[in-house]
Amino acid sequence: MLLRHRNEAVLLAVAAAVALFLWLRTPDWLTAASKESPEILNSTLGFQHIFAINLPSRTDRRDAMTLAAALTELGITWVDGVAGKDVLDKVLPGGSSSRHGGFTAGNKGSWRAHMDVLQRIIHENVTSALILEDDADWDVRLKTQMQVFAQAARAFTQPLNGQPLAEQYRKHPHPEFAVHKLPQRIMLHPHLTPYGDDWDVLWLGHCGTEFPTTPAPNKPPPLRVTIPNDMTVPSPKHLKPHPFALQDAFAEQYPPHTRVVHASSGTTCTQAYAVSQQGARKLLWRFGLQTLTTGWDLMLRDWCDGLFTGAADPDTAAAADAGVDSGQSRGPPVCVTVQPPLFSHHYGKGAASDIMAPGGGFVNSKKEMTPYVRVSVRLNMERLLEGQGGQEQWEEEEPM
Ligand SMILES: *[C@@H]1O[C@H](CO)[C@@H](O)[C@H](O)[C@H]1NC(C)=O
Ligand SMILES: *[C@@H]1O[C@H](CO)[C@@H](O)[C@H](O)[C@H]1NC(C)=O
Repeated sequence: MLLRHRNEAVLLAVAAAVALFLWLRTPDWLTAASKESPEILNSTLGFQHIFAINLPSRTDRRDAMTLAAALTELGITWVDGVAGKDVLDKVLPGGSSSRHGGFTAGNKGSWRAHMDVLQRIIHENVTSALILEDDADWDVRLKTQMQVFAQAARAFTQPLNGQPLAEQYRKHPHPEFAVHKLPQRIMLHPHLTPYGDDWDVLWLGHCGTEFPTTPAPNKPPPLRVTIPNDMTVPSPKHLKPHPFALQDAFAEQYPPHTRVVHASSGTTCTQAYAVSQQGARKLLWRFGLQTLTTGWDLMLRDWCDGLFTGAADPDTAAAADAGVDSGQSRGPPVCVTVQPPLFSHHYGKGAASDIMAPGGGFVNSKKEMTPYVRVSVRLNMERLLEGQGGQEQWEEEEPM
């Protein structure tokens, strides 16, 4: 009898310890988030489409990405990339062209490929789409990461008493909320996309971004939404865009394993970004028809930073008049990003010994790696094919 009681006590203690462990391991924001937007678990991450851009001659990249998508239950639609030499000078927007410095044949091809996707999104009246470059990689837990991101993004994309939270806190010096402390009504279900109803770009894969600082009406708002205790975030020493880069500034400002969602500012590289129908229309008008000066990612950066917004730019008013938006005057485009990014550039084993990293620097291509992604799909394809779970790419990480 006594023995049985003791056994029961031991069992209870073990159960309590396990429960505490699970509770610590699964923060409430994760549980809440996964109940919020079940459609994000579908094969297009809650967007209407996932488009992936690939130059047909790069069959290697199409093979790898097809497999990576299949192994993580993603449905991608291929869009052919464009070679720079196939872009005629006469199709370039009038106000700009290759006579500007810093604009290469590669830039031309990339510009056209991205314009082609935007054109298709508009032509097919796609509500929202994720656009991937064919060297993008992601974590095997992408779908749950996206559910949490969606909840944070709504502080920027969903009106709360008429205005998104990010707008209401525009004048505060350092507004910040943890995702599970956002006012409840932000969590109300949006009807256009699970990421919110009023946004232009969700910049999910980049090679660097900054927190917005200048509190001006035509600049991105300074709000930050943190995702604490996110064990899919690598430890601080791995938070850098390529192996020889300095650690990202944000890694020193937040406790380890914090992800931060904020308006895009100075963001570069376009491994992955989502556009809404309204975003696609504005972008095609601006960069398909008006302005072409440099690489696509740098133009998108400037656009999100509000460089084309405001009274100083009469073209913006014209866009509103043309029915691109509802006609009401508004601030800069709504571009939301995240640090560390949820998609990143995969460095495969190349033939050359060194390759140029996006955003500068060299990477030794003998060692495969993907910055920012703890359990990379590309690095785990063989394991996943054999029905095994994914493995950490950095051995010294603490277990999950
Ligand atoms: C995934 O969900 C989104 C949003 O509800 C929807 O538009 C899209 O069609 C869904 N994807 C698939 C493949 O059903
Ligand atoms: C595009 O889709 C929206 C709903 O997502 C609808 O209201 C609109 O009428 C559609 N436009 C066209 C031209 O079909």
